[in-house]
Amino acid sequence: MAGNYDAVYRASQQNPQAFWAEAAKLVDWYKEPTTILDDSKPPFLQWFTDGQTNACYNALDRHVAAGRGDQDALIYDSPVTATKLRFSYRELLARVSKFAGALREQGIEKGDRVIIYMPMVPEAAVAMLACARIGAVHSVVFGGFAANELAVRIDDVAAKMVIAASCGIEPGRLVQYKPLLDEAIELAKNKPQSCIILQREQGPGEMLAGRDKDWLELEAAGEPVDCVPMLSTDPLYVLYTSGTTGEPKGVVRDVGGSIVSLNWSMQKVYGVKPGDVFWAASDVGWVVGHSYIVYGPLFNGSTTILFEGKPVGTPDPGTYWRIIAEYGVKVFFTAPTAFRAIKKEDPQGEHLARYDLSKFEALFLAGERCDPDTLHWAMDKLQIPVIDHWWQTELGWPACANCRGIELLPVVPGSPTKPVPGFDIRVLDEQGGEVAAGDIGALAIKLPLPPGSFTTLWGNDERFVSSYFKTFPGYYETGDAGYIDENGYVFVMARTDDVINVAGHRLSTGGMEEVLAAHPDVAECAVVGVADAMKGQVPLGFVVLNDGVDRAASDICTEVVRLVREKIGPVAAFRLCAVVERLPKTRSGKILRATMRKIADAEAWKMPATIDDPLILDEITEALGSLGYPSKG
Ligand code: COA
Ligand code: AMP
Repeated sequence: MAGNYDAVYRASQQNPQAFWAEAAKLVDWYKEPTTILDDSKPPFLQWFTDGQTNACYNALDRHVAAGRGDQDALIYDSPVTATKLRFSYRELLARVSKFAGALREQGIEKGDRVIIYMPMVPEAAVAMLACARIGAVHSVVFGGFAANELAVRIDDVAAKMVIAASCGIEPGRLVQYKPLLDEAIELAKNKPQSCIILQREQGPGEMLAGRDKDWLELEAAGEPVDCVPMLSTDPLYVLYTSGTTGEPKGVVRDVGGSIVSLNWSMQKVYGVKPGDVFWAASDVGWVVGHSYIVYGPLFNGSTTILFEGKPVGTPDPGTYWRIIAEYGVKVFFTAPTAFRAIKKEDPQGEHLARYDLSKFEALFLAGERCDPDTLHWAMDKLQIPVIDHWWQTELGWPACANCRGIELLPVVPGSPTKPVPGFDIRVLDEQGGEVAAGDIGALAIKLPLPPGSFTTLWGNDERFVSSYFKTFPGYYETGDAGYIDENGYVFVMARTDDVINVAGHRLSTGGMEEVLAAHPDVAECAVVGVADAMKGQVPLGFVVLNDGVDRAASDICTEVVRLVREKIGPVAAFRLCAVVERLPKTRSGKILRATMRKIADAEAWKMPATIDDPLILDEITEALGSLGYPSKG
């Protein structure tokens, strides 16, 4: 056993500065910090304020310098293109340095923002690290988002350049990224100066002369460049995430905090050492991809796997086991939804039995609530610790986990275990008072947040404060509700806002409502997240039509489903829609979304005392029935 959880946690609380100063010694600095935390302007915290470092240096150069040059840094496994590639630390450093040189030749300098719109190809990681190398701020946009979402991000971050691939490959379908990019730039008010396009042979894109440059040509001609020393507090990246409205939040993460926290978490949370193989089956477009496909494992000198495929269908539900066996994965991280997909196709674990998983030590799950069925199935089939852990884009790394690198605590199904050292998690009532053990309330984290948490929202300090720090002064409001039991185990129950989790992807029902409301025949609408056996939740929309509209309800539903796909993207998985006469509301006009969701999920619900017309709920129940809800699955 590497330590004692209680003692380590206590140390992190008693003296956060001393605790993180120790962790900071494990990474490389151009100038070591003398001020560990400046918290003079809460909630704006500055960790390692006067330190100077570089994320790319800590991810690559320092490992080559320390003799890890020949070790695999990144393994690319792509069943959808039948490709397997290995990049040693030395090779990855060479590619990144040249591409960073190419970026510089294209006019990208420290502080410039670069959007990366790419599928799961090694070049996505090369692009991120190359930006970090020269101090450019990257903002990766998930490939499942539509042109409009890309345009919103290009504008908000005022991107000077977009780096994109010509296409992505989804099972059974090629996703042409290039036309989406062209449309996004057309829509954007801020026009990027140039684009670098990785032409993939599966679907090359048409280049726009003058604006679009070919990745391979630029990289080949790029002169390798060195890392630029950055202040610890400089931004490393901006990652947009869903909030309550359709306007995404640009989460900003700083350089020094990211390096120290991710490096620490690899060893202490995940129990992964330099040289070990670690795999997070997510996407570079999500926070998991930033923290645990690219930066965390590389900061730690581990080997990371970049997987372009799905848990099932590429080609079968044994793909994950094949990868774990083939590359000797020690710790694997994915979302419960992926396990539900595998379990559905291979309930007996027959595919699993075909592989040698002897090196596999622990499975971590996050992104959504882990249902006990999935947890038990995974524990039963794998016979290794299965660890649910809880975190958010804003926090950047796990806030609650079973830190197997410190001490593996007993697993309690339904709980992501205890707060990770650095996170002081409390459960608060509406007045901000702490509730008793076992009572449900808002999950909040007492300031200071540890290094690696977000430092602001891009260009919007005000929204940073009002969205997260206003309700409970002195605390970060997580947006999740839950409780802590008498043994200190945390239980995360549900979001307290309009954010839903679809197949581990965070989406805003408010954003979808904005799209539905824009349909010319729609007078009002409501979108709620309803339970789904595979994806955890899926969105379901109710629309009320304008007076006088006499078109078929089914046509209008088909149109709004298409609109959401066009405006937000296929990842929203918006397929369920019903036309109703009215929406249930309180007398003051608030739509009763929670009641509709409870009816859909066959949960117990009470007639709200303030409802203006109880009969409307009969119509809602009938509409849900026509869509197959409450579902029997
Ligand atoms: N680019 C373009 N389109 C994408 C995309 C991408 N990167 N990712 C997903 N999509 C599309 C899919 O093709 C699908 O389109 P369709 O409506 O035409 O079928 C839609 O978005 C929904 O995709 P997805 O959520 O992946 O659902 P699915 O039914 O195709 O697959 C799972 C279901 C469970 C297998 C899949 O969601 C999965 O692997 N989830 C794990 C997610 C995960 O690891 N999250 C990380 C959090 S830790
Ligand atoms: P994201 O920012 O995309 O990582 O989504 C964060 C949200 O996902 C959290 O606020 C939770 O609502 C949910 N979530 C993530 N991990 C868990 C977990 N282990 N248990 C329950 N909910 C989770």
